[in-house]
Amino acid sequence: MVAEDAILGFLQSQDEIADSHEFAAGLGIDHTELENVIKRLNGFEIIDAQDFKKDNYLLTEEGKLYAVEGSPEVNFFLAVPPEGISLANLKITLDPKVFSIGSSWSKKNNWIEIAKGSVTRKVDAVEDKVKDLLKGIEDGKFVDGNDVAELLKRKLIVKQGDWKDLEFKEYNLNAQGQPIQIGYLQPLLEAWQGAMVREEIQNIFLQMGFEEMPTNNFVESSFWNFDALFQPQQHPARDSHDTFFLKAPATTRDLPEDYVERVKRVHEVGGYGSKGYGYDWKRDEADKNLLRTHTTAVSTRMLYMLAQKKPFMPKRYYSIDRVFRNEAVDRTHLAEFHQIEGVICDHGLTLGDLIGVLEDFFARLGMTKLRFKPAYNPYTEPSMEIFSYHDGLNKWVEIGNSGMFRPEMLLPMGLPEDVNVIAWGLSLERPTMILYGIDNIRDLFGPKVDFNVIKNGPICRLGLQ
Ligand code: PHE
Repeated sequence: MVAEDAILGFLQSQDEIADSHEFAAGLGIDHTELENVIKRLNGFEIIDAQDFKKDNYLLTEEGKLYAVEGSPEVNFFLAVPPEGISLANLKITLDPKVFSIGSSWSKKNNWIEIAKGSVTRKVDAVEDKVKDLLKGIEDGKFVDGNDVAELLKRKLIVKQGDWKDLEFKEYNLNAQGQPIQIGYLQPLLEAWQGAMVREEIQNIFLQMGFEEMPTNNFVESSFWNFDALFQPQQHPARDSHDTFFLKAPATTRDLPEDYVERVKRVHEVGGYGSKGYGYDWKRDEADKNLLRTHTTAVSTRMLYMLAQKKPFMPKRYYSIDRVFRNEAVDRTHLAEFHQIEGVICDHGLTLGDLIGVLEDFFARLGMTKLRFKPAYNPYTEPSMEIFSYHDGLNKWVEIGNSGMFRPEMLLPMGLPEDVNVIAWGLSLERPTMILYGIDNIRDLFGPKVDFNVIKNGPICRLGLQ
């Protein structure tokens, strides 16, 4: 109640309490206690309070001097005797600064008069307002804004910034930042840094005008994975030692029957200039579901769908996705890995076009020295294995497989006779291993991947190394 009475009592006769700190000190109570009372009275609209923080000011060296010795104008005034004095005499007795600054302020304040080389007083006594203000600021008292502005202008005080009292370390522009705790690419999903490589490869395909194929189904029928690719049913790859067949659902339900018939015929007796394989093609074998062994199964389905659209439109397709093979796992083999595949379908394509596209594609991956070796695939003729010279390993490494799809594969689909398809495939893991210098594929993909290796692995930019 002391505080409340004091506040209301004070405001009976005065307009305002300018400084609550000063008021609290005068009452001998804590400022927070006073503040609470003010807030309450303000809340009931008994008084009108405003919250503002007082700026802190520091005295400059000159200000500190005046706070002790008085302002130059007052010292100048005091040096002028009531009977007056010659300027020349004053100049000898006074400090040069006190003389120059003091004379001009005394004159400005109308304290003195200077005429014909002598100075006379215009008033009897003066107050040292500047000294009092400076002392007030030194003691943390509230000072009127106009006075503060004047003192600032005379450079007798400066606004205090906290930073002035703090010690700062010099910038170390070479310091490395703390590693950020963020999510890292999930190895089982993406292969180690594979997402990065994958994104880069995806960008390359997109720059080259390729469209992505839908590869979201891991399960395919043997028909799309093998038969439509003119891969005979006795081929060792179709053995369960090499391919994962599904138990449930064990067979596919839905195949385009007239096309199946044409595929059966080309296997059995040929056609389109081919002799065929001359064996008894079995539908049961084609119906078997499996985990796709290559993404070429998807390319095949896409080409079949393209062939159904009339008139024919040239296309460039790509995919990057998972494939499965029943293989003994070792340093360089996994039972599941990722394949990259590119397919171009157009009129009159040649082996020269294939070589040109491969040179372009791999150059964008940073592989400029390529060699091709004749190879065999049931679905391509001619076929070429692709080798790249690895500068780090100082040897040629196999990086992919390619070829021109056979007429036995394309013509039963219904593609025009003058349309050719060039295609290539490679694993995502292989160039990634080469680029990162990893010699064990299990460090890259699968359950044995070390999370720290993923965290600490550098980011890969293809073609820039
Ligand atoms: N499908 C092949 C493989 O699994 C790659 C390939 C794709 C070859 C297209 C030729 C044409 O290795």
